[in-house]
Amino acid sequence: MAHRVLVTGGAGFIGSHVADAFLADGHSVTVLDDLSRGRRDNVPAGASFVRADITTAEAATVVREGRFDVIAHLAAQIDVRRSVADPAFDAGVNIVGALRMLEAVRASGAPTRVIFASTGGALYGDFATPPNAETVPKDPESPYGIAKLSVEYYLAYYARLHGLDTVALRYANVYGPRQDPHGEAGVVAIFCARILEGRPVTIFGDGHQTRDYVFVKDVARANLLAARAALPAPGRLDGRAFNIGTGVETSVVDLARTLGTAAGRPVSVEQAPARTGEQLRSAVVVDKAAKVLGWQPRVTLEQGLRDTYHWFAEQHATARTPATSGTGRVGTR
Ligand SMILES: NC(=O)c1ccc[n+]([C@@H]2O[C@H](COP(=O)([O-])OP(=O)(O)OC[C@H]3O[C@@H](n4cnc5c(N)ncnc54)[C@H](O)[C@@H]3O)[C@@H](O)[C@H]2O)c1
Repeated sequence: MAHRVLVTGGAGFIGSHVADAFLADGHSVTVLDDLSRGRRDNVPAGASFVRADITTAEAATVVREGRFDVIAHLAAQIDVRRSVADPAFDAGVNIVGALRMLEAVRASGAPTRVIFASTGGALYGDFATPPNAETVPKDPESPYGIAKLSVEYYLAYYARLHGLDTVALRYANVYGPRQDPHGEAGVVAIFCARILEGRPVTIFGDGHQTRDYVFVKDVARANLLAARAALPAPGRLDGRAFNIGTGVETSVVDLARTLGTAAGRPVSVEQAPARTGEQLRSAVVVDKAAKVLGWQPRVTLEQGLRDTYHWFAEQHATARTPATSGTGRVGTR
């Protein structure tokens, strides 16, 4: 059945692929984004576009009057360091923005399924040995992670008290075409830009810190499956949360090496001192998504890095990618 879908943050990296996936599956898509970080030309041609800030009454009206079948909520302040520097701003967008959207869904009375873009790495931290299942204890180390966990509690609350149909997808480290190479956490995008500029990539510490890299099109497909899956009764934290990753830990050193193979040229590396507070290891168990959503990652790291590098190379060739000052810090969002 064709659904009416709202993708908040759909002018951004992951959201634009989510919008693509819903359109390709025959649904009608509206993108809502304030373009604070996203780009208008990321919004697929077949989608309607509303430029609005998720925290405003205007956005709430779009949600309330739209009575969407599905809302994929990806609009967010995504910079972990900014969340540390300005936790109130982070909470304003990431908690209050989500709350405004949930209140508008409640006010609409529509049976909307809300799919929230949450995080694996920033929720689980270094507390348990990876790969981490959904149920491990959470004690996020950044305001960004605290906000994501808070919204997950609100999702459970709205499901329990108001019968809302909510799901949380906890992404591992997502990479792929359209990722911003200027951010602090998109290490694949940053490395691609560096390689194309003929500059060395920076590796902090011994380079053995690991992350679970999942290709953006696999993440988009998880949203599609979450929109139509038969799910357990909502109402408890973790109950309707699904890790979306690969379960595989890849070190930064191995990432740079594999990217070099994808690029067809060796990657030169410059070492920098280890960053204090940087998470050492991160990976998520994806058995629950496989069992309940019927989702598994399909794209290998080798293939995903090849596709990503070639996309950045095309952008570089048409001079659409300006020089980056980004570093190779591997964040967890
Ligand atoms: N990239 C990752 O590895 C990763 C990992 C875990 C979770 N996530 C989550 O996935 C989602 C998408 O992240 P992304 O990497 O595509 O980032 P992104 O910055 O490319 O996308 C976020 C989009 O939200 C928009 N936005 C920001 N504030 C807004 C506001 N107040 N109102 C309306 N729109 C607003 C931005 O303009 C941007 O287009 C976010 O919720 C993020 O927290 C990302």
